[in-house]
Amino acid sequence: MRVEIYCKKWIASLVIALVVAVTPATVARAQTSSHQPWMNQSLSAGRRADLLLRAMTLKEKTVLVHGVSRKEHPFKGYVGYVPANPRLHIPALKLADGRAGVGNKATGVTLLPAPIAAASSWDPSLLETFGQVIGKEQWGKGTNVELGPTIDVVRVPEWGRTFETYGEDPYLNGQMAAAEIKGIQSQGPIANANMYLTMNQERDRFHIDSVVDERTLQEIYLPPFHAAVSSGVGTVMCAYIMTNGVYSCENPHVLNDLLKTQLGFRGWVMSDWGGTHSTAASARAGLDQEMPGDRYYGQALETAVQQGKVSMATLDEHVRRILVTMFKHGLFNRPQPGDWDAKVRTPEHAAFSRHVAEQGTVLLKNEGNILPLSGVSSIAVIGMDGGTQPQVEGKGSSHVVAPYVISPLEGIRKRAGATIKVTYSDGSNLAGAAGVAKTASVAIVFASTVEGEGHDRPNLELPGNQDHLISIVAAANPKTIVVLNTGGPVLMPWVDHVRGVIEAWYPGQEDGYAIAAVLFGDVNPAGKLPLTFPLKADRIPTRTPQQWPGINGKSIYSEKLNVGYRWYDATGTEPLFPFGFGLSYTTFRLSHLVVTPTSMSKGTGAIHGTVDVTNTGHRAGAEVVEAYVTQPSGNGEPPRQLCAFAKVFLKPGETRHVGLTISPRSLSFYDASAHRWTLDAGTYRVLVGTSSRSLPLHRDVTITEGTN
Ligand code: BGC
Repeated sequence: MRVEIYCKKWIASLVIALVVAVTPATVARAQTSSHQPWMNQSLSAGRRADLLLRAMTLKEKTVLVHGVSRKEHPFKGYVGYVPANPRLHIPALKLADGRAGVGNKATGVTLLPAPIAAASSWDPSLLETFGQVIGKEQWGKGTNVELGPTIDVVRVPEWGRTFETYGEDPYLNGQMAAAEIKGIQSQGPIANANMYLTMNQERDRFHIDSVVDERTLQEIYLPPFHAAVSSGVGTVMCAYIMTNGVYSCENPHVLNDLLKTQLGFRGWVMSDWGGTHSTAASARAGLDQEMPGDRYYGQALETAVQQGKVSMATLDEHVRRILVTMFKHGLFNRPQPGDWDAKVRTPEHAAFSRHVAEQGTVLLKNEGNILPLSGVSSIAVIGMDGGTQPQVEGKGSSHVVAPYVISPLEGIRKRAGATIKVTYSDGSNLAGAAGVAKTASVAIVFASTVEGEGHDRPNLELPGNQDHLISIVAAANPKTIVVLNTGGPVLMPWVDHVRGVIEAWYPGQEDGYAIAAVLFGDVNPAGKLPLTFPLKADRIPTRTPQQWPGINGKSIYSEKLNVGYRWYDATGTEPLFPFGFGLSYTTFRLSHLVVTPTSMSKGTGAIHGTVDVTNTGHRAGAEVVEAYVTQPSGNGEPPRQLCAFAKVFLKPGETRHVGLTISPRSLSFYDASAHRWTLDAGTYRVLVGTSSRSLPLHRDVTITEGTN
């Protein structure tokens, strides 16, 4: 009897234990380990990808290497979509644009300032947070591939997408790219370095051929992508244009040789939207994924594999790259609760947007310390950009639906309070604008350009009657200040007639608050130009039609290494405002430059510089210390190239010891005859200062034996 009871109890508890143990989750776990071993998180990304690849059919493989249309597969606002594979547990890829916030008409998001504004901070930590904010909002929207940043070096100042970039220097671009990518990827989404390679103009962008020599490619256009790869970027977007006669997305030299072999990129390459032009040639050249559709990589690729025109090994390599990256970034394991309809903007992100706008604002002229405004009883705000039509962002795929825009007029009125009278004229009536300007203590003209994807600017002039408007206002009021909201440099025929000039770029949704803070001195401007402002229309590096916009479909990069400030220095051309330039409401002094070692062999290790920076004025402020290197003349390098920089915040009277690290790569050049980077023996000069044209300190470094 007792035995019977005991047995019954035992059987009952066994049944209960079994019922408890065999939940759907345990079934899934069991299946996972036996049937889906790639779901085992303790394996490496590469191992998991190999295991998954083995389980995939040809069809399943090709599905992963192209996007689908909304018609076939209804999905929300993402600009690119690869459907999930439930059989194999592969999550969907959801791609969205995001250069200054989540794009593709998403709502409930934050409009940040344009990347060119962020870059003007010369502060990689700010770029990292910039990336975090975009990454976080994208993740909240369900996006797992964030299409940004745009990291091309600006070759042509008229380029319509200049505002999306970090400017004209490969080193600066690389530093900024690495920081932003780190920020984006820390929040979940995989970042996308675009647009690879030599994407330097919008005119004829679907077909133009960039004719560029190997050395220039290596020294100017490749380094930002090198930095992006080193920072662990998961994807790269190949560009629309051709490089040396071959479309980027089917260019074996550009994709296989440079990106994947030389730079060691392990992620995947997707084409720009519609930038794929072939099946077998692209697959063999290193294009991993066609976007946004399946014209070349759908059925056509399947057939090409079946017919042996593309080997299975080649297809596997593309699929593997995608899978490895997805595993590495946790897409198989991390829950992705985000949704396109979610509201992701926050007050903190709005405050950050304003902070970037303030930090990116560059004070270009401040005659007689007209700024910050003090003791004024009235302010005339003039120009459509100041009130009715503030230009806060660039157009095209980086467009963000701003939740609101604070116009300069609104921001200034709020900051001015009741004691300062603020008047406004949109400038459409010149005499009216002059009248408004005349009666105010100061006149502030807001001028802008409309720039964006698909078009280059016809020239560097402010469009419409804005130059005229500025001149008329300046004639009416000797205390005239100009604020520019542009995506790139503009000519300033009126510059000698105004007292102040501010470049505020495209400042995002907090425009008015940010500019008011700078004008009134609540914020001390510390931005520096990430590109040169030319003095005259014809005094730019790409001034011949062969160079830009190109003739017979070819843009000839005959300026070679002399891009941006390198050209101004090499040709002894005076810019209006040089690269790296920007004023402050305080003053700084640099002293005691020390460089160690002053002699090195074969470029082992790095060169370290230290310099003392003192705030010699009466306000707290930040200075950017910039270091440039001059190589021995026989190396054929431009006169000076940025090799290190550091931003330092100082109280009045404070001195700080600032460190700079110069890598051997900054002392090297690309030897095209040997097809390799070379460090030559010789004397290298390190110059330190506060702009590319103000370098009061220097020290020499001797390389006793090069790397040859
Ligand atoms: C642009 C890309 C963008 C893509 C998707 C293309 O036209 O060149 O930068 O990511 O569209 O919107």
